[in-house]
Amino acid sequence: MRRPFVAGNWKMHGSRAANETLLAELERRLKPEWPVEMVVCPPFVYLADAARQLEGGRVGVGAQDVCAEPVGAFTGQVSAAMLVDVGCRYAIVGHSERRRLYHEDDALVARKFAAAQRAGLVPVLCLGETLEEREAGATEAVVARQLDAVLSIHGAESLSKAVLAYEPVWAIGTGRNASPQQAQDVHAFLRRRMAAQDATLAGQVRIVYGGSVKAGNAAELFAMPDVDGGLVGGASLSADEFQQICAAAAART
Ligand code: PGA
Repeated sequence: MRRPFVAGNWKMHGSRAANETLLAELERRLKPEWPVEMVVCPPFVYLADAARQLEGGRVGVGAQDVCAEPVGAFTGQVSAAMLVDVGCRYAIVGHSERRRLYHEDDALVARKFAAAQRAGLVPVLCLGETLEEREAGATEAVVARQLDAVLSIHGAESLSKAVLAYEPVWAIGTGRNASPQQAQDVHAFLRRRMAAQDATLAGQVRIVYGGSVKAGNAAELFAMPDVDGGLVGGASLSADEFQQICAAAAART
C-alpha cells in the first residue's frame, strides 16, 4: 500500500505573521495518527522559520524550486544543500508555472531533480499538459516526454525516492479540476510507463494529482486507485481546507 502524500504549494503567498498562524492551526488540526505524509511548501525566505516551527511534528517542509547547480556564482539561486541546511526535506521541481514563466525545459528539470536527490531531498516532479495539448490528443505524449527526461538520464531507480505530481496546466488555479477519471487515466498511464522499466518500483511510486484540489473534490479524486494524494495550491492557504484534504487522503488508506 502506498502511503498517501499531500503537499501544500503556497506559491508566492504569506508573511511571517500569517505563516505562523497558519502553521500553528495546521499543527493543531492535522492528526498525528493519519497515515499520510503531509508537507507545506512556503516561499524560500520563510522556509527556515517554517521548519523551526514544525520541528518534531507531523508536517514536513519543502521548497517550491531548487537550483540545478550545487554551489557557486548563480545570483538569486538557492542550492539543495542550503534547503537541507534549513530543515527542508522536499523540493518541487518542474512546476508548470516555472516551466512556462521561467522557461524551464525538461533537461533543466531533470538536473534539478538530480540536484535535489544528491543533497538528500525528495523531489516532487510535476508533469502535465496544457489545454491545447489535451485538445490535440497529446496528453500522454507530453507527460511521457516529461517523465522520460528524468528516466532516461537518472534511471527508474531514481523514482524510488521521489513523488510524481500530475498537474494538468488547464486545471491549475482555474477552479476547474480534472475529473477523477481523467486523473486516473493519466496516473495509470504514468505507472504503466514506469512499469515497463521496473514493475516493482512502479507499484511503489506515489503519483499525486494537482490542479484545483479542494475539500469538496479531494475524496472523489483520492478514491481513484492510482491517485495517491494531492499537490494543493490555493486551498493549502486555508487550514480548514488543507485539513479536510489531508483527512480525505487518510480515509483512503
Ligand atoms: P491550485 O494549484 O490547487 O491552486 O490549482 C496547484 C499547483 O499549482 O500546485
